[in-house]
Formats: sequence, C-alpha cells, structure tokens
Amino acid sequence: MEKINFTKKYKSECIVIGMFEKYQFSCIADIINKISNNYILNITKKNNFKGKINQILMLYEVPNILIKKVLIIGCGIKDKLNRETNKIIIKKVINQLKEIEIKDVLWCLTNLIIKNIDLYWNIRDTINIIEDKFYIFNKFKKIKKYKLSLIKFNTNDNNIEIYKKAIKHAIAIKIGIIKTKNLANLPPNICNPKYLSLETYKLAEKYSKNISVKIINEIEMKKLGMNAYLAVGNGSKNESMISIIKYDNLFDNSQPIVLIGKGLTFDSGGISLKPSLNMDEMKYDMCGAACIYGIMNIISELKLPLKVIGIIAGCENMPDSNSFRPGDIIKTMSGKTVEIINTDAEGRLVLCDVLTYVNKFNPSIVIDIATLTGACVVALGNNISGLMSNNLKLSKNIMKASLDVDDRVWELPINDKNYYNQLKSDIADIRNTGNSNAGGAITAACFLAKFTKQYKWAHIDIAGTAWNYSENNKSFSSGRPVNLLCQFLLNYSYNN
Ligand code: BES
Ligand code: MN
Ligand code: ZN
Repeated sequence: MEKINFTKKYKSECIVIGMFEKYQFSCIADIINKISNNYILNITKKNNFKGKINQILMLYEVPNILIKKVLIIGCGIKDKLNRETNKIIIKKVINQLKEIEIKDVLWCLTNLIIKNIDLYWNIRDTINIIEDKFYIFNKFKKIKKYKLSLIKFNTNDNNIEIYKKAIKHAIAIKIGIIKTKNLANLPPNICNPKYLSLETYKLAEKYSKNISVKIINEIEMKKLGMNAYLAVGNGSKNESMISIIKYDNLFDNSQPIVLIGKGLTFDSGGISLKPSLNMDEMKYDMCGAACIYGIMNIISELKLPLKVIGIIAGCENMPDSNSFRPGDIIKTMSGKTVEIINTDAEGRLVLCDVLTYVNKFNPSIVIDIATLTGACVVALGNNISGLMSNNLKLSKNIMKASLDVDDRVWELPINDKNYYNQLKSDIADIRNTGNSNAGGAITAACFLAKFTKQYKWAHIDIAGTAWNYSENNKSFSSGRPVNLLCQFLLNYSYNN
C-alpha cells in the first residue's frame, strides 16, 4: 500500500488521534489504521488499550505512515464525550507532548463530536488549554527552553471558515492572556504604578489608530478630590497613578463600556499590617489591572466594533509615618465621607473614587475587576470568581460569557439591607468595613455600590481566581478573567 504522509503540508513530528471505547476509531484514526494494515487495531489490543478516558499510547514507526510518532488518546464511550472530559483529554495529551518535547504536532482531535459544544468551541478550548499548559514565566530565572512551536489542525473545505474564526479569536485571546500573566507575575519592586502606566503608553503607540492613553497622577487626583484613592497611596514612595486607556473603533457618539482594574502593585495592609505568611502574594493585588491591560490588547488586535475605556487603578498600600490610619475620616470624590476602620480594606477606597470619576464618560456599563476580599476566597474557593451587580441583564450577560468560555463566576446578592447597615458610621457617612469578615465579599461590594448608582454596574471579585499554584506550590497569575471579559465584549459586539 502507498505510504501516507498526508501530503507534505501535513508532515509533522507527531500526530495525535483519538480512539473511543470498543475500538471505535475517530475518522482520522480509522484512515491510519487502514493504511497501516490494521496495525493500530492490533497494537492497541495487544497493549490492553481500551480507549478509556486518560489512557494514552505512543506508537513509533507505524507501518506506511511517514509521521514518526503516533499518539493515541482514549476518548471514552462514543457519543458520551463532553466538554469537561474533552478538556481532560487535551490536558493529558499536552502532558505527554511535553514529556518527550514534541515541537511540531498534527492535532486531529478538534473534529471529534462533543455533546455540549461545537467545533468553534472545541478549537477555542484547545488553544486556550495549550496556552495555559505551556506558559512559563522566565524573566528572572533561566528555565529550560523547550516549546511547542507548531500545531496543525486537520480541516476540510466545509469547516475551514470555522477554523479561521476560532483560531483568530483564540490566538488574540491567548496573546492577551500571556501579556496579562507576564505583567501580573512581575515582582512589586519592579511593577509599581508608574510601571503600569508606562506599559499602557506602549499600547497606545502600538494601536495609535484606536487607542489613546491619559495618566492621572497625584497632583491631578488632588485637583479632582480623589482623597480616598490618595489616602491609600500616602504611605508609599511610589506615586499613585491612574491610566485611562480609551479604545474607540466606532468613532460616533455612542456611550462607552468602562472596565476598571484594581492595581495595588503591593498590598501590605498598611498600618493594619497583614501577617507575614504569604504576604508576598500581595504582589498579585494588581491582577485586575493586568487583566485590563490584556483585554485592551485583545480588543485592539481583533478590532472589535466597540468603544471601551479600560482603567488601571495603580497604587501601593504601605505602612509609613505618612500612611493613612484606622480612625481617619476621608472625604471621597463623591463628597461622601468615610471612616477608616481598617487600612487593609484599601481596594474599595481606591475603586470608589474611580467609580465616581467615570461618571464623566456617561458609560453604558461599568465593570470593575478586583482582588478585593479574602472573604470571597472563603465563600467560593479558587475556581469561581464572585459576581455582584446592580443590574440583572448585565449580570446575566456576564454569566452567559462565563459559561461560553468556562471561566466560572457565581453571583452573590447585594440587595439585602443588613449588609448596607454594617457600613453605617456614627461620625461619617460610611465606614470602610463591615462588622466582621462574615459575608465580607458582599459588604465590600455594598460599599462600592454606594458609588455606582448612576449606571449599570458589575463587580467581579477575583481574589480566589487571579492566581493559582504550580506543582511545587509556587504561585503564578492565572490570567483570569480575561477570557470571560473578552467573551463578554465579543458577544456584546455581535449582538449590538
Ligand atoms: N487584597 C486584599 C484581598 C485579598 C486577600 C486578595 C487574600 C487575595 C487574597 C484586600 O485588600 C484585603 O486586604 N481585604 C481585606 C478586607 C478586610 C480588612 C475587611 C480582607 O479580605 O481581609
Ligand atoms: Mn488589603
Ligand atoms: Zn488589596
């Protein structure tokens, strides 16, 4: 029989094919089996490879096949494959490719029939997982440089347009997520508020047709009356700085979507100092801001027909003789006065002035993303972000996007008086914390809600999801929820 090389354009170091239980081959596996004179069938039987989920078998030098390595992955019972098991399969394959350092792969799994998603989403999931599995942060340490440099998918004339669209979206999002992670993983002695704003300038240079950037420094903030924001940065020698990134690809007078990211480049707690255990992780308190940076990259790259204002709220919370203190009363930009109970509840103070400031843009929607409360981690753990909103339609649309990309959120209620009552103060309009840590994610959102009455607003607490831990317990930014918010914007631009 003729040797198969799938023509030259399919020549790769390794081909990945799927096999279901009961020796039911995927389409491409069937072709390879036939060309190799039933070699695949015989060898899987001999190896007791039954096609169960998590079974994997690497074959070398399959007869009549020019691609030297054939990787067979078990896909479970045919017709039962769903999104979740498909993700397990993808991860399993990637681990194997990594182990033997495959650089160039022909990936024949995107055309498997999956119960609850279509081809487009299978491609999006695949590229997304590949990004996550191969990401390394090697700016400060030489790490072995193996990388998968080429992935080919097998397509046919009927679905080529779906591949093009999915790959275009997935690659833009992948690059944005990497940018978010690279920024979020920087140490706090390098990544300070000034550093964040310089990064946004580069963005404006690169996408000068659609992006302009304005920086608000401490002098500006004073003029604007952003005293809550300023108070948080008082103890740090690093100047507080807000970067306003305006993206416009509509050039009309429509209302913008505003996205705000908490950008505490380090949160020591201030005078209400945090315990030292894991305090280093508070370099991730700018993950919300890093997400905004990634998202602005992605929408510029995809040229989405939108008007989006991304705001990076850069600040550092440090103890010092200039620090604000528990007991201080501060007048916010809105005019409301706040009694400071705990200087570690600083995120809401920075955000409340930005939430007031953005009224000037007459926004259609405002979404803030913040590593806001440890209580949110207690409530939802490390895989689900907290969602709180004053508008049902908006929270529904965010949940829809969240389901689309499987970047999970769960809505917490902010319509209960009890939580607002906890913010009452005898000597100021409000205080900056509730009575206790109980329901702390909600009381924090209730604090913010007092500044968002004029527009549709949602708040995503990413304290539990913004970073995660590798096998050796080292933490790294997860890039979440960039995927979710980009999907929200993709959906928004296609539905409007
Ligand atoms: N940045 C923290 C929240 C946080 C904690 C994020 C753990 C990720 C992991 C925030 O500024 C904070 O310190 N919040 C306090 C609020 C409290 C003082 C009301 C908290 O959660 O303890
Ligand atoms: Mn804090
Ligand atoms: Zn914080």
